[in-house]
Amino acid sequence: MMINYNHTVFVFLLLSLGIFKLGSCSNNMTVKCIKSEREALVRFKEGVIPAGKLSSWLGEDCCHWKGVECDNESGHVTKLNLSNPAGRHRHFDYYESNERYQPLPASREFCASPCSTSLHPWERNYRSSRTLLGDVNSSFSGDDNASLSGEITPYLGNLSRLTHLDLEGNYNLSTQNLDCVSSLSSLQKLYMGGVKINHTEADWLHAINMLPSLLELSLFSCELKHLPSSLTFLNLTSLRVLDLSYNPFNTSIDLSYNPFNTSIPQWLFNLTSLTKNSWEGVITEARLMNLTRLEEFVLTTNNKSQPLVFNVKDDWRPPFKLKILHLESCLIGPKFPKWLQVQSELTYVILNSVQIKGTIPEEWLSMISSNLTHLDLSNNQIKGNLPHQLVFPNVTKLFLQRNLFSGPIPSNISVLMPSLQYLDLSENLLHGKIPLSISKIKHLNILVLRRNNLSGELPDHWNKSQMDLRVVDISYNNICGKIPSSMGFLGNLSILVLSNNNLSGEIPSSLQSHSIVSMDFGGNRLSGNLPSWIESDIFMLRLRSNLFNGTIPKRWCNLHKLQILDLAQNNLSGSIPDCFNNFIAMVDSNTLESKSIENYTEEAYIMTKGSYYKYDRTLQLVTCIDLSGNSLTGGIPIQITSLTRLGTLNFSMNHLNGSIPKNIGNMRWLETLDLSNNRLSGPIPGSLSSLNFLVHLNLSFNNLTGRIPSGSQLQTLIDATIYKGNPSLCGSPLPTKCPGDEASNGPSITDVDDKQGGDHYERIWFYASIGLGFVVGFWSVCGTLLLKKSWRHCYFRFCDEIKDRIALLIALRVVHLKRKFGLEKN
Ligand SMILES: *[C@@H]1O[C@H](CO)[C@@H](O)[C@H](O)[C@H]1NC(C)=O
Ligand SMILES: *[C@@H]1O[C@H](CO)[C@@H](O)[C@H](O)[C@H]1NC(C)=O
Ligand SMILES: *[C@@H]1O[C@H](CO)[C@@H](O)[C@H](O)[C@H]1NC(C)=O
Ligand SMILES: *[C@@H]1O[C@H](CO)[C@@H](O)[C@H](O)[C@H]1NC(C)=O
Ligand SMILES: *[C@@H]1O[C@H](CO)[C@@H](O)[C@H](O)[C@H]1NC(C)=O
Ligand SMILES: *[C@@H]1O[C@H](CO)[C@@H](O)[C@H](O)[C@H]1NC(C)=O
Ligand SMILES: *[C@@H]1O[C@H](CO)[C@@H](O)[C@H](O)[C@H]1NC(C)=O
Ligand SMILES: *[C@@H]1O[C@H](CO)[C@@H](O)[C@H](O)[C@H]1NC(C)=O
Ligand SMILES: *[C@@H]1O[C@H](CO)[C@@H](O)[C@H](O)[C@H]1NC(C)=O
Ligand SMILES: *[C@@H]1O[C@H](CO)[C@@H](O)[C@H](O)[C@H]1NC(C)=O
Ligand SMILES: *[C@@H]1O[C@H](CO)[C@@H](O)[C@H](O)[C@H]1NC(C)=O
Ligand SMILES: *[C@@H]1O[C@H](CO)[C@@H](O)[C@H](O)[C@H]1NC(C)=O
Repeated sequence: MMINYNHTVFVFLLLSLGIFKLGSCSNNMTVKCIKSEREALVRFKEGVIPAGKLSSWLGEDCCHWKGVECDNESGHVTKLNLSNPAGRHRHFDYYESNERYQPLPASREFCASPCSTSLHPWERNYRSSRTLLGDVNSSFSGDDNASLSGEITPYLGNLSRLTHLDLEGNYNLSTQNLDCVSSLSSLQKLYMGGVKINHTEADWLHAINMLPSLLELSLFSCELKHLPSSLTFLNLTSLRVLDLSYNPFNTSIDLSYNPFNTSIPQWLFNLTSLTKNSWEGVITEARLMNLTRLEEFVLTTNNKSQPLVFNVKDDWRPPFKLKILHLESCLIGPKFPKWLQVQSELTYVILNSVQIKGTIPEEWLSMISSNLTHLDLSNNQIKGNLPHQLVFPNVTKLFLQRNLFSGPIPSNISVLMPSLQYLDLSENLLHGKIPLSISKIKHLNILVLRRNNLSGELPDHWNKSQMDLRVVDISYNNICGKIPSSMGFLGNLSILVLSNNNLSGEIPSSLQSHSIVSMDFGGNRLSGNLPSWIESDIFMLRLRSNLFNGTIPKRWCNLHKLQILDLAQNNLSGSIPDCFNNFIAMVDSNTLESKSIENYTEEAYIMTKGSYYKYDRTLQLVTCIDLSGNSLTGGIPIQITSLTRLGTLNFSMNHLNGSIPKNIGNMRWLETLDLSNNRLSGPIPGSLSSLNFLVHLNLSFNNLTGRIPSGSQLQTLIDATIYKGNPSLCGSPLPTKCPGDEASNGPSITDVDDKQGGDHYERIWFYASIGLGFVVGFWSVCGTLLLKKSWRHCYFRFCDEIKDRIALLIALRVVHLKRKFGLEKN
């Protein structure tokens, strides 16, 4: 029962009377909950674990329980909201594994440790991505953000006046058929994304069809397989929001023939009150004609080879004014379309890979500039200068990478775009100096100018107020001069990539900072001693191809998180420190930690397996020590052999002497070992043959002696040049026979294989494939992730009505990706 006091008076009384109770108020302000509904909630609680989340579900009055809301007057439970925002990723990537569909939070496509199969794929991916992001534990320990698990009790159906039911993101929860909701006839909003729905037929939809008041329905990623081809009677007439994305519907659509062919059931289209014919690969104005209040238009496909084509008349004036436009991999070019030029209210624009050639009309930009917050024109062939006069006061993200933009970066960019957080102008034809102004953009977070023709010196006005700047990537330009010491003021700088420029001088010691996790200065003319002051959080230190001299600092042995140490091609002298065993990240895969910055993928070229490989997303998984091409002396410290997770070890082209450490076979992840062109002597340790992942070995031009060991992995490395230039080596695969071999005629490689009954080709393939090393080997353990993105998705989404969104998201199954990963290439 509800008292009819004026609230203001009531509050006033409470405040002024302080501790006094409202004697005149005979009824409690709060209603008591209805017994049968309490019972239903108790049953619900009993069916799920961890109940920790429901720990407030105690006492008689269920209206006070967390997530429960009752009607003030009747006391009926009207809302039940136990959503799990932590598990509620709306944007996923698709990939396939074991016939299962596994949505994956986008841009976190890493897997840090072999995935446990007992976890739900969502949790698994989420957990592994979180591991790499460095904050595990919190979300999966049964706390408030954890997913409920268990089964939804049918008693839930007793909450007959429920209008809102939100269980979204509880990916460990399941339900039979949705029977539990079919009697909730007042239901207006049903959110169950992530909850597993065990169904055999399209019965789940029949249950939904009993809810005539339903306004919003979200069942993304519910493992729905069956979609009825027809419905005799559709009573979901009020539906405004429908999200059925990321379900493995068996009514799949092969995008290679026809993007929107008739296999999408008609009733789905009825629901959207749109789009009577089915969609085809071509979008014409007729389809968009009546959408007068369309505000948000999202159309993306990953099918680059078969993009959707916009075929509208040149002079078509659309009836709508869009605010959000997201077109990706659709064909709207080559000319910048006129119908877009009249869209004056845009705030969020993504035209990524839409095949626009030529220039962007400046009138259009000036029309939308004041309200624009997000502009992404990447992956087109857009020419022309960047706008030098237009002010974009609200733009936080500007993505123009991979185009043909030329001319200089506006010298007053901090005035034109004061709100910029993310600026990516990489892979264009920009030239001129990097304006000082860039160092005045206060909240700049990520700056990527990679692969342009920028010249001059780096701006030297970085300052402490730029606390948000975390990534600076200016690699592959023509920048000269010194690295400005003011960069040291950037207190949160994590990734600094200045490789392949013309920089000279020493690395300023002001860069000594705990925040830097990756420094790539390779391919410059930097000189002086190596920066011994580098702090211990660094993950990649790449200084190859410079003019550094002096010795490798012993202090670096504190770099516990170092995974990539590339000092190749410098003038370093002295011996290799005997404390490399302190590089713990190269010892134990559990210490592998992500240094990835969300939305930014660092790329680096690493010399491995005899050639350069570009690593980007997988860079986190690379472990490498490359000291080749210096003047290092002394022996190979035996401590190096404790780096059991090291993938690449390259000491070639130095003056190392002594012998190869006997227990080199301990380095069981090693896939590349290059000790060539040194002065190593003594025998090749037999343990070398136990390096199962070794695919690239070079011991040539040393003074090694004795018999080349054989067996296991070494059987696959039959190239005699591996051992060339060691006059005292003998045995296969060298033509030199070892003393005493003539008589016994020791086993040849093919003999071994034949004896073991193995198919030679198969064995080589097998070794080569495991030998692809950690990166690939790792992926195949995880079995999924980005390498097997054989499911791509396409969704389209319409919003009609000013406030009432109609959204239709259907994940479409597209042709199987023929491209398989490196395993086959090798
Ligand atoms: C209202 O009832 C709740 C229990 O349902 C109780 O905790 C609270 O003290 C009561 N308030 C008043 C003002 O009586
Ligand atoms: C029910 O109570 C809440 C505050 O507890 C109030 O905001 C709401 O307006 C009330 N509803 C009705 C229908 O009186
Ligand atoms: C449930 O609560 C969350 C916040 O915890 C909110 O974002 C969501 O909109 C609510 N769901 C419904 C259906 O109101
Ligand atoms: C799904 O439902 C069927 C019966 O409808 C039952 O046999 C099966 O065990 C259920 N599966 C799960 C995972 O609950
Ligand atoms: C909705 O449609 C189904 C047929 O699919 C019908 O059996 C049911 O009675 C209808 N429900 C309401 C509330 O109209
Ligand atoms: C959907 O609409 C078509 C015509 O637009 C109509 O023939 C059909 O009966 C409708 N289907 C349902 C289930 O309402
Ligand atoms: C647009 O609306 C007109 C008039 O209401 C109607 O005749 C026409 O069929 C509609 N076109 C589409 C594509 O829905
Ligand atoms: C910017 O947005 C506001 C509010 O949406 C709108 O009133 C105004 O007309 C827009 N300005 C321009 C130039 O489109
Ligand atoms: C855009 O910036 C202007 C001026 O700074 C401001 O008044 C306006 O509110 C901003 N608009 C939006 C949509 O943020
Ligand atoms: C390193 O090079 C500088 C010149 O660039 C030279 O002055 C210095 O002596 C060299 N140091 C060593 C140890 O070779
Ligand atoms: C990174 O992406 C997330 C979500 O996709 C977004 O919320 C965040 O603002 C982005 N950060 C930057 C710097 O763009
Ligand atoms: C190679 O080693 C042998 C002894 O094992 C030694 O006699 C010879 O001088 C060495 N040759 C070179 C070039 O160091």
